Amino acid sequence: MSNDEMKKLQGDLIKAIEGAEGSAALEVVRIEALGKKGTLTEMMKTLGGLDPDARKAMGAALNEVKVAITAALEAKGKTLAAAALAARLEKERIDITLPVRGGESEGRIHPITQTYEEIVTIFAAMGFSVAKGPDIETDWNNFTALNIPPEHPARQMQDTFYMPPSTHGAVAVAGSEANCRAGVPQEMVLRTHTSPVQIRTMMGQKPPIRIIAPGRTYRCDSDMTHTPMFSQFEGLVIDEKTHMGHLKGCLLDFLRAFFGIDDLPLRFRPSYFPFTEPSAEIDIGCSRKGGELKLGNYGDWLEIGGCGMVNANVLRNCGVDPDKYQGFAFGTGIERLAMLKYGIPDLRTFFEADMRWLKHYGFVPLDIPNPAMGA
Ligand code: DAH
Repeated sequence: MSNDEMKKLQGDLIKAIEGAEGSAALEVVRIEALGKKGTLTEMMKTLGGLDPDARKAMGAALNEVKVAITAALEAKGKTLAAAALAARLEKERIDITLPVRGGESEGRIHPITQTYEEIVTIFAAMGFSVAKGPDIETDWNNFTALNIPPEHPARQMQDTFYMPPSTHGAVAVAGSEANCRAGVPQEMVLRTHTSPVQIRTMMGQKPPIRIIAPGRTYRCDSDMTHTPMFSQFEGLVIDEKTHMGHLKGCLLDFLRAFFGIDDLPLRFRPSYFPFTEPSAEIDIGCSRKGGELKLGNYGDWLEIGGCGMVNANVLRNCGVDPDKYQGFAFGTGIERLAMLKYGIPDLRTFFEADMRWLKHYGFVPLDIPNPAMGA
């Protein structure tokens, strides 16, 4: 066989390989070329009858064709497999964009959930992580470790739901970090604030700490502006040089982002909390002209929460060295923020499970731009 014929054979085979429309067709081409009775195989068999020089030249040429064909088969095989996979994926695709049957969905995101997610999103962007604690708390976490010892008048600041003694054994107050860590049985309460998550966090991990703790809280209180259950979120930052300027900057950034008001003023008003020293109430700028509350730089003030530098006693109670570490904490109500942002006038309506209310104040899932969706 001449060189030209050899080239033609190679060309024909490659054309056949490239034209194969599926792996079965490709296999037919492979067998025709390299199978037991394939063209190339048959030609290899004739080498034995040639004289040594011709055998050498022909052998080398045939081998070259074989290598080229093998490579082409392999490449085509891969292409066909990839195409088959793509076709299968396309065929088996599930359309998750299927619209809700019957038009607009009836479901709504509750304004508390929406507000909760907005708060978490903004603080997450500032490097905070979310810490959680249980609704049923120990006396130590809810009061004592927060520098509110038994009989301290500050306990009366918060009207507490106590759990019946049968749920936690003997009534006792653990009263110390050691007893608490040892699991000495103690009085249990429905947490009156999210501040116990500060204690859980500091007893459980070493500084630096930067958390927010959103969740439900409970107090025996029920009127126009109080419900027995409500939601708060707590912030806690502990590091070596954290100071009150950081606290103010952090709250300012959060509040301006949350309310979407770039020049929203923030004021600290001196106050008292057992767990902070110094302590302050957080006020934001507003107007009450004409009996209508409007947030912004209008000269009037509205209280929205409490804050301060974590009291050294609290750090000590959690085994954190106050000579090395310091930090700030803050706490505020989620319903209150939701009412202000979304113009919801009555706190109690949050918990009435009235579908008409939810339809009006709720959020259509995936529909409303919010920080959690990057809007
Ligand atoms: N726990 C307080 C309350 O429920 C709110 C609060 C005030 C939390 C000051 C704090 C703080 O972390 O520093 O009324």
